[in-house]
Amino acid sequence: MADKAKEKAAKKSLLDAAKERKAFKEEQAKKFPAKIPYQEGDPVLSIRHIDITFGSGRKAFKAVSDASFDIYKGETVSLVGESGSGKTTIGRAIVRINPCSAGAIYYKGEKISGKLPHKESRELVRKLQMIFQDPAASLNERATIEYIISEGLINFKLYKDEKERVEKVEKAITDVGLLPEHLTRYPHEFSGGQRQRVGIARSVVMEPEFIVADEPISALDVSIRAQVLNLLKKFQKERGLTYLFIAHDLSIVRFISDRIVVIHLGKIVEIAETEELFAHPLHPYTKSLMSAIPIPDPILEKEKELFVYDPSVHNYEEETPSLVDIGNGHLVYGSPSEIASYKKQREGE
Ligand SMILES: Nc1ncnc2c1ncn2[C@@H]1O[C@H](COP(=O)(O)OP(=O)(O)OP(=O)(O)O)[C@@H](O)[C@H]1O
Ligand SMILES: [Mg+2]
Repeated sequence: MADKAKEKAAKKSLLDAAKERKAFKEEQAKKFPAKIPYQEGDPVLSIRHIDITFGSGRKAFKAVSDASFDIYKGETVSLVGESGSGKTTIGRAIVRINPCSAGAIYYKGEKISGKLPHKESRELVRKLQMIFQDPAASLNERATIEYIISEGLINFKLYKDEKERVEKVEKAITDVGLLPEHLTRYPHEFSGGQRQRVGIARSVVMEPEFIVADEPISALDVSIRAQVLNLLKKFQKERGLTYLFIAHDLSIVRFISDRIVVIHLGKIVEIAETEELFAHPLHPYTKSLMSAIPIPDPILEKEKELFVYDPSVHNYEEETPSLVDIGNGHLVYGSPSEIASYKKQREGE
């Protein structure tokens, strides 16, 4: 008897969970329709309230929570935060590797998160390319450089004959500062910097519109970082590309970004134009990132006090926080009283 009651209760809770999931799906579909108005001048990429969760049930881990930001055509937006904050997770959601558990991602007004017809999905794979974080792990060790760069072209038949394919591959390899004779080699025969260049060639040969560059220079020697950055900038200028650039620290992104998005433990805490953010960092986490930037003067650097972010300063049990635009496109995450004090700081400075 007791067993029967237990079984009944278990069935009911399963049914309730299924109902809840259905209601959540319907609500999401209403909030995030398949198309949103889009015209020239609007952001090409619009990330709206996305959650990204790994695992399910009790093991579920929300790596990104309620993240929203926009990117305009031709812009470089940098996503900055410490290790494990969810940067790669967001990048992979844009190129449709990671699914979103809530919210939506729009590209030119079309929802690109969730299921899509095969044809649209394929076209997006070409238009939105990702340069992966680890140049050592992201190339197929058993394939020649020629095959690695050609693979996307072959999959998408982006050439009319063999001659054109070879031309495209040779142009891509020389564009990134390597030589056509490198094409017959294998990834292990290259240095980290050269492998990163192969990764870049593989992306740009697809003639993408949008590139997620996931820490493309972090694994490289300081001396070649500038070269790779300049290369990315050159492609952007020549081809009108839009970039989401992912980095650990602010010093790298200052000179290449139009705007910066700061993320901490899966939550976006501040968004502003680069110079605005450097002149007026408001969120304490952004301030801690700023204080970690080395000063070129050795005496000042020695005496500098590092600012450590302590999340317990927030009192979010009593006041609900949100990401608020305090003017000039500067957004900060905070409770109503924090936002009021950030506004005051910004005006008083
Ligand atoms: N496939 C996965 N399964 C389970 N957890 C994952 C998966 N991918 C990422 N995570 C978790 O999500 C969180 C965010 O990871 P992510 O790789 O996005 O961080 P990141 O900001 O790119 O860090 P880093 O700067 O070290 O590259 C981490 O806690 C990570 O362990
Ligand atoms: Mg990462």
